[in-house]
Amino acid sequence: MRITMVGAGYVGLVSGACLADFGHEVTCVDTDEGRIARLDQGIMPIYEPGLAELVANNVKAGRLSFSTELAGAVPRAQAIFIAVGTPSRRGDGHADLSFVYDVADEIGRNLREPTVIVTKSTVPVGTGDEVERRVGEAGTDVRFAVASNPEFLREGAAISDFKRPDRIVIGSDDDWARHVMSEVYRPLFLNRAPILFTSRRSAELIKYAANAFLATKITFINEMADLCEKVGADVQDIARGIGLDNRIGTKFLHAGPGFGGSCFPKDTLALLKTAEDHGSPVRIVEAVAKVNDTRKRAMGRKVIDVLGGEARGKRIALLGLTFKPNTDDMRDAPSIAIAQALLDGGAEVVAYDPEGMDLAGPLMPQVTMAGSAYAAAEGADAVVIVTEWDAFRALDLGRIRQVAKTPVLVDLRNIYDPAEVRAAGFHYASVGRQ
Ligand code: UGA
Repeated sequence: MRITMVGAGYVGLVSGACLADFGHEVTCVDTDEGRIARLDQGIMPIYEPGLAELVANNVKAGRLSFSTELAGAVPRAQAIFIAVGTPSRRGDGHADLSFVYDVADEIGRNLREPTVIVTKSTVPVGTGDEVERRVGEAGTDVRFAVASNPEFLREGAAISDFKRPDRIVIGSDDDWARHVMSEVYRPLFLNRAPILFTSRRSAELIKYAANAFLATKITFINEMADLCEKVGADVQDIARGIGLDNRIGTKFLHAGPGFGGSCFPKDTLALLKTAEDHGSPVRIVEAVAKVNDTRKRAMGRKVIDVLGGEARGKRIALLGLTFKPNTDDMRDAPSIAIAQALLDGGAEVVAYDPEGMDLAGPLMPQVTMAGSAYAAAEGADAVVIVTEWDAFRALDLGRIRQVAKTPVLVDLRNIYDPAEVRAAGFHYASVGRQ
């Protein structure tokens, strides 16, 4: 099948490359000329494990190509995916849909063959209706349908999430569109991945509901962690003790410094806006957004408390800056608020991240970037694990102790065994544990 993927960002590029790998002929279109020129040379705009190889293989096989010309890529396609950004609109938290609508207008002007138009971008309920109206308004008499097909890809694991999904959600009441979408996902269909057909509006809401629910799970366990610290319990045991109940499940119960990234913070806010607009408040999600927001900075204060309540004149090493491991993404990363809280308290902050320092640098100009975890720890009064990169899971604690000024380890991801770290001569603090 011939597919056009509009948007060669995170979602579009991963989805386009995976669909090409399924055997489809995919053109990824992006207005960013530099990005397309680099993709043509095999240079990825993002860090995602396995992506460069997947792209290279499919380009070589002639199934994947890149273009800046949407008008040229519309007429040939049987399915056009819209995978452009929907950032939070300045001021009100609504998703900014201007990119989505510009693409819809352009598609409408250039349709030549029956085409299913699919929104993959995360868009508020009712966006598909407006896309349909805009494409139709361009006066085309070619048959088209608009479907919703939300993505559930985790950064760092996006390719396996695409190829081995828990489910595929397809929102359309049109039988022809459902058939075309089944063809798009045929290899997964054959592998019996659950494919859920719903109305377009339900599919749009499923995406927000899924992210809001996961964000709620994280926030719940984070608040339990705070309570554990007060009552002398262990949040890891709580997570396991409740998670083994199948109705709850063990995943997304890992306490930490709060969720970040390009999705949960933005999508919870957008859901709140939708709920508000429809006079149907989702108070749990309101609380989740607030609690998570204050938590990030509170983690900075937690570090200062470990240091005896005074940050002035102290040197603090942050290990990990990205919002999670295996990505270079710094969007809404807890490290930003943590570093700021420490700087505000008068500390000197040094940091190291395996992939995130290029993007982190401009976001935290007062933070010194170091060449390794050990270089960051040199002369430090405290070493703080902010992101659980594998490289930080087995640090040479002896070496850290030698280079640091004071052996203090604050583990905001609970990746160490408290007894082991203490046996190595450290003062150790973590999240929700004694
Ligand atoms: C999330 C969802 O997991 C994907 O299903 C969804 O497709 C994606 O958003 C999206 O909407 O595009 P992602 O933002 O890549 O994916 O990252 P997650 O692995 O979900 O982590 C999000 C944040 O929650 C991170 O800051 C992570 O550290 C935090 N987290 C996650 C926890 O603090 N505890 C956990 O137990 C799990």
